[in-house]
Amino acid sequence: MSGIQTRRFLLIALAALVIAAWTGVLMRFGMVYGFPFWAQNFGAIRHAHSHLMYFGWVTLGLMALIWHRLPALTGRPLPRGVRWQMAATALMALLSFPAFWANGYGLTQIGPARLPLGAMVAAWNGLTWFVFIGFYARATRGLPVRPVPVQLWDWALFLLLLASGGALGLMALVFTRTENPFLQQFFLHQFLDLFAVGWFSLALLGVLWSMVEEPPRRLPTFSLALLVTPTFLLGMSPGALSPLLFWVAALANAGAALLLAVHGVQLWRRRADLGPMLAPALAGLAGVVLVAGALLWPGVWEENAGGQMRVFYLHNLLLLWVSTALLGAIEVAFPGVGRRTLRWANAVWVIGVVAMVVALVGLALAPRVGMSQLPWLHGAAWASLFVAVAATAIWGLALVRHRVGAEKLSSQVLPVGAKAVH
Ligand code: HEM
Repeated sequence: MSGIQTRRFLLIALAALVIAAWTGVLMRFGMVYGFPFWAQNFGAIRHAHSHLMYFGWVTLGLMALIWHRLPALTGRPLPRGVRWQMAATALMALLSFPAFWANGYGLTQIGPARLPLGAMVAAWNGLTWFVFIGFYARATRGLPVRPVPVQLWDWALFLLLLASGGALGLMALVFTRTENPFLQQFFLHQFLDLFAVGWFSLALLGVLWSMVEEPPRRLPTFSLALLVTPTFLLGMSPGALSPLLFWVAALANAGAALLLAVHGVQLWRRRADLGPMLAPALAGLAGVVLVAGALLWPGVWEENAGGQMRVFYLHNLLLLWVSTALLGAIEVAFPGVGRRTLRWANAVWVIGVVAMVVALVGLALAPRVGMSQLPWLHGAAWASLFVAVAATAIWGLALVRHRVGAEKLSSQVLPVGAKAVH
């Protein structure tokens, strides 16, 4: 894909971030002041928010950056049809928002039929990912040497396939109307958690390493994927998981965290190649590592697996680590005018994200120390406003830069071997 095409898909990914972030703001302020009459189904809105973030923001953004950087690493052109795959992925991701907003994974009456719109659109999204995986396999088949980013993407896509198995399981439960709480949880977390911790983390690390001038020759890739696999079990509710399965998942999680820390330290050493968003993103990664260590302490997981602590953990992982690092990588693809505005927007993003994550910890801990949750709810709501405003400004600036820069700037997109791509 050319630089211009990449930037078009990145603009769509940023637009998804903006819409999903404002939906998050709606939920956060709704929790304090009540929800408007047109937003009464909280569960469905939460699904619309999380699926647009997953499918439209992170997945589309990662795929666009992978396609953009791959030819420089393989020395081969991309397969024909990549543009159509990306267009289909973008369209399906955007459709997930209204589909889930209606009724989440439940049934929606359309004329005489009751349709599981969310499950249907999730299935169509999954099909476009399989096409991505097929093209990727063709583009990288038989490479004599697989550079570190390619190895990370190989395993990221393997984990994406495993996670999609969870989505298929969820759909099977909906279509067969099976009420099995264990399977419902198992499939939900196989999908959502493996998708986030597996596909997002490994693919993002691959993108970051592809931006570095001299990456180390050896870094954990297969071992990281292997250890990450069982960690989705920790998303299930404690009552549903046997002690043996818990310890398998918790030890694997601690091992995966150590390997993530190895990547984090090595990336930090090469921060000059990676832009200013790397430092706050790595703070989020450090949070993930610390939580993995804390879960080995007896009773910590049982007490914190659900509720507000999970919301904190998810947003530390997905907002502070994944989204901040992805935003930094995307900004490199839009060089040009408005550097000062971008610096301000980045600062507002970081302040908002850090304040929101801190408020979410406070929200989780407040009842345990006999404190009211209200100040923390206010804090999370106002912090979320900062995040949404910053995301909107960054999207607007990217749009301006895309229009102003057009062809002239496309050769500056990649720091490493950029010209080979075009
Ligand atoms: C502007 C930043 C964001 C705000 C204001 C926000 C807000 C929220 C809120 C209010 C909830 C519901 C919490 C509850 O049930 O108590 C939520 C859940 C969630 N969010 Fe976010 N969020 C943001 C960013 C993100 C990002 C970047 C991602 C992923 C890339 C994400 C993924 C999720 C997930 C997976 C859930 C749980 C969904 C579920 O359990 O169904 N959020 N978010």
